[in-house]
Amino acid sequence: MLAAVVERYGPPEVLTLREVAVPRPGPGQILVRIHATVATPSDVAFRSGRPWIARLFSGLVKPRMPILGDAFAGVVAEIAADVASFSVGDRVVGSAFGAYAQFVVVDAASAVVRLPDSLGFGEAAGLGDGGLTALPFLRDTGLLAPGHHVLVNGASGSVGSAAIQIATAMGAIVTGVSSTRNLELVRSLGADRVIDYTAEDFTAARSAYDIVFDTVGKSSFGACKEALGPQGIYLTAVPTVSPAMLRKSGRRARFSATGLRSPEEKTKDLQQLVDWTIAGRLRTVIDREYDLHQISAAHAYVETGRKVGSVVVRIQ
Ligand SMILES: NC(=O)c1ccc[n+]([C@@H]2O[C@H](COP(=O)([O-])OP(=O)(O)OC[C@H]3O[C@@H](n4cnc5c(N)ncnc54)[C@H](OP(=O)(O)O)[C@@H]3O)[C@@H](O)[C@H]2O)c1
Repeated sequence: MLAAVVERYGPPEVLTLREVAVPRPGPGQILVRIHATVATPSDVAFRSGRPWIARLFSGLVKPRMPILGDAFAGVVAEIAADVASFSVGDRVVGSAFGAYAQFVVVDAASAVVRLPDSLGFGEAAGLGDGGLTALPFLRDTGLLAPGHHVLVNGASGSVGSAAIQIATAMGAIVTGVSSTRNLELVRSLGADRVIDYTAEDFTAARSAYDIVFDTVGKSSFGACKEALGPQGIYLTAVPTVSPAMLRKSGRRARFSATGLRSPEEKTKDLQQLVDWTIAGRLRTVIDREYDLHQISAAHAYVETGRKVGSVVVRIQ
């Protein structure tokens, strides 16, 4: 099968297409023929080895896992004899390392759920990108409750665009922060209010939010503290260290590595994201689509930090 392989850290060009053996499903596993994956800032970090903290997961000197990619959508091509939960031909969406390839093997009991015919593969792969990050951040780390005032910074990104819609679906009153060009998009995703960061500093608000979710790590707890209510939580999707992360109550800060959650948790969340999508409460914002052989160009674009929603990688 064809796979995009990275054997050393470096610029987008270190991603090269190779013929590698199709993995075989062992007991309890299924083989999925991938139709779409996404290129993300996390993939960029695992390819470039920057920031250095990424290497704690991806390998200190060189990438431990040469095939990057996580979120995938495709069709079950083969199942182990003991798997009853899937059939060959099922359309599925999931999350597993090694998605920059034509096939991936996953545990049937891992983060993979059936995909309805009405959902496209690119759209579905996008759910495993921003959705699978935003949902646990807001619900589990931010303890979002209906009626909460939530501000999402980076509202036009993959995590941000999902966060706006998920917070809305969970009954929050939502403010989205983006640049001028993306304000209409953020409004269309359900934000009750939008702030143009080129014209207004959202951190100047006072006791206005129960949750400030900085999906792009462009602010800090210190800067946002006064904008939070007395029990407000500052969430950042980008690893940072702050003494406010140790506080149990009052204004506090939290980071979470949502990709490291258990397969059971991810499965439950993927199903919720699919259900919301079918119900018309969630949609994947797709910026650009690339073919697998254009993976370096996809990475170069993600690296600009300007993508809007997800960058889908189609796999023929
Ligand atoms: N903690 C975890 O478990 C976890 C999981 C997944 C991802 N992440 C991290 O989450 C971060 C966000 O990922 P993503 O895919 O959502 O990012 P992204 O889509 O690449 O973010 C790009 C968006 O950010 C906006 N932006 C840039 N500068 C901004 C600013 N100063 N203020 C507000 N918006 C700004 C851009 O809009 P404009 O061009 O209009 O400014 C663009 O639409 C990444 O660092 C990723 O590594 C963390």
